Amino acid sequence: MKKILAVLMTFVIVATCGVALADAPKIGITIYQFADNFMTLYREELVRYLTEDCGIPAENITVMDGKNDQAEQSNQIDGFIADNVDVMILNLVQSSSAASVIQKADAAGIPVVFINREPSAEDMALNGNFCYVGADARQSGTMQGNIVLSLDNKGDYNGNGVVDYVMIMGDPENVDAQYRTEFSVKALTDAGLQVKELFKQRGDWDQTKGQELAATALTQFGSDVDVIFCNNDAMALGAYQAIADAGRTVGEDIALLGVDALAECVEMVKEGKMTGTVLNDHNGQSHAAADAALKAAAGETLEKYYWVDYVMVTK
Ligand code: BGC
Repeated sequence: MKKILAVLMTFVIVATCGVALADAPKIGITIYQFADNFMTLYREELVRYLTEDCGIPAENITVMDGKNDQAEQSNQIDGFIADNVDVMILNLVQSSSAASVIQKADAAGIPVVFINREPSAEDMALNGNFCYVGADARQSGTMQGNIVLSLDNKGDYNGNGVVDYVMIMGDPENVDAQYRTEFSVKALTDAGLQVKELFKQRGDWDQTKGQELAATALTQFGSDVDVIFCNNDAMALGAYQAIADAGRTVGEDIALLGVDALAECVEMVKEGKMTGTVLNDHNGQSHAAADAALKAAAGETLEKYYWVDYVMVTK
C-alpha cells in the first residue's frame, strides 16, 4: 500500500510540477517578515501550490518568519542546513547576506532559490546550484510612469508645466525600491516631461509609515504636489489616507500610484481612489519558485534567473 502511495505521489509530482522525484523533498523556507502584506500572499500561495498542486506533504515543508532580522534569519538558514533539507527557498532580510548563504549552502550541497529580494549580480555569479526567481523591478517602475503618462494632463494637476512628485520608497537595500524609484521618474523624463522631486523618503514597505510620510509631504508642499509614487501598495494605502485627510481628491487634484495590485488597491483603482497600480504576480512568482526548487531537489542544475512579468493595472 505504501509503495502504491509512493508511486502515486511521484505520479502527482510528475503530472503537475514537471519533475520526477522518488521521495518528496524536504524544503526549508524563510520569509523576510510575515507582517508584510505582499509576502503574506506570496507565502500562502507558495505553500498551497507545493502541497495541493505538487503533492509535497505539509510535514516536509518548514516555513519560518525572518522577523525582519537578518541575524535571526541566518540562524534559521543554519538550522535548515543542519537538518539537511533538500532545497531552500529564501526571501532574505538583507540581500547583501546572499554571498555567505550561497557559500554555506554550496558547501553543504543544498540548492537555493532566492525570491523577492534580488541578490547583486556579483553574488549571482558565485558558484553553486542556486537561482533568483522574481520580477524585474525596472518594469514596474516604468509601468507606474506610463500610467501617469496616460493621463490627459500627464500628471501635471496644478498646471505649472512640471510634474511635481513625492516618492515614498521601500527599504532602499532592496533593488525593487531602487529601480521603482528610478524608473517611474525615468519614464516621465524619457517622454520629455519636466519633473521635480519635492520629497523622497523611505517608508520601508509599511502602510503606517506610508501614511506618515505622505501626510508630512502634503503639509509641507500642499497643492504643489501633483503625484505620489509609492514603491508598493501597502504604502499607497497609507498615502491614500493622508490624501483624504488633507482634503485632496485622487483623479481631480492629485495622482496616487502603487505596485503589487493588492485586492483592496485594485478595488480602489476601480473606484478612482488610486490612479493605478502594477500587478506583482505572487501566483506566477511562487509557482516558478516552487518549480525551480523541485527541479533542484531532483538534481537538476538551475538557470541563474527565472523572471515573471509585471502587469499594469488601471481603471
Ligand atoms: C513588494 C512589496 C514588498 C517587498 C518585500 C516587493 O516586491 O512590492 O510589497 O513589501 O517586495 O521585499
